[in-house]
Amino acid sequence: MKVLISGGAGFIGSHVTEELLDHHYDVVSIDNLATGSSSNVPESVKFYNYDLNDPEMEYVFEIEKPDIVIHLAAQASVTASMRDPYLDFHTNTAGTLRLLLLSKKYQVKKFLFASTAAVYGEPLYFPIDEKHKTNPQSYYAQSKFSAENYIALYDVLNGMDSCILRFSNVYGPRQNPNGEAGVISIFINKLLNEEAVSIYDGSQTRDFIYVKDVASACRHAIANEKKGIYNVSSGTETTINDLFNLLAKEFDSHLSPSYKPLRQGEIERSVLDNKKAKFELGWNAEHSLLEGLKETVKYYMKEAAVYEY
Ligand SMILES: NC(=O)c1ccc[n+]([C@@H]2O[C@H](COP(=O)([O-])OP(=O)(O)OC[C@H]3O[C@@H](n4cnc5c(N)ncnc54)[C@H](O)[C@@H]3O)[C@@H](O)[C@H]2O)c1
Repeated sequence: MKVLISGGAGFIGSHVTEELLDHHYDVVSIDNLATGSSSNVPESVKFYNYDLNDPEMEYVFEIEKPDIVIHLAAQASVTASMRDPYLDFHTNTAGTLRLLLLSKKYQVKKFLFASTAAVYGEPLYFPIDEKHKTNPQSYYAQSKFSAENYIALYDVLNGMDSCILRFSNVYGPRQNPNGEAGVISIFINKLLNEEAVSIYDGSQTRDFIYVKDVASACRHAIANEKKGIYNVSSGTETTINDLFNLLAKEFDSHLSPSYKPLRQGEIERSVLDNKKAKFELGWNAEHSLLEGLKETVKYYMKEAAVYEY
């Protein structure tokens, strides 16, 4: 099976690539390196430096004829989307439609899309399952939700088998601490450099899922004939305060964070129900938060040691 991964040079894409190589898939990768890095792409993987909207991207489908597309490439920053909604639409919505058109033309068998818990907006009940009302509250969430709708319609009109995975908060090695996405990589970097940490309130909760479990969910989704929408999450609610304390313990740090009020518009609680993915895809999140954090801390410590020499 040949799998084309868009966004393969990014954080999650690099782990999906490794997961598929470990399970003997043939993997090719497309990325414009906007936030990704070619150093994240294993040498055995054929890499194409293309933008999703580049007309020449068709060449990759022509040459490679992939069986499956896993579409992870995105402008994934909420802040950037609020600054420039058009860029977000262009990459996340129009870029997805472009991949869909090419997937249809080159007879791709299954199209997997990385969506986000942000499409649910302010939660009305917990845990949030796939039947929860959708109510995007940022241009990023809107662009992802629009892409979801194109995929669903494409499935109906063109018989393109598709799976939409809505990820909760993903963390792990190679997450970019300079972005806004990963509170865990931000905390780890602060603790590593013994820098001051600010926490907005700290009692808000998030559902943190280890990136290797997300990669495994992608593999289960392409190996399975099921279609539709699946939450991919740990199903566990963790406060930001507890998260910081767990990390501080790993570093044996007594650093006390400074506190600020909760930012306007920030959701107070978030936890996704992952039962549908468990039962229908046969997937399980195998890393506890503590295990995932330990692996992540080990990675960043090793990276820091390399940069010291
Ligand atoms: N990290 C999370 O917590 C999280 C949560 C929910 C959903 N997601 C989704 O998962 C996917 C991967 O996110 P990530 O955290 O790995 O982010 P990332 O920024 O590390 O990866 C995105 C990749 O897409 C590439 N890219 C961006 N625009 C492109 C374009 N126009 N053409 C080609 N390549 C392009 C980037 O260079 C990067 O390598 C995204 O679709 C994101 O929306 C992530």
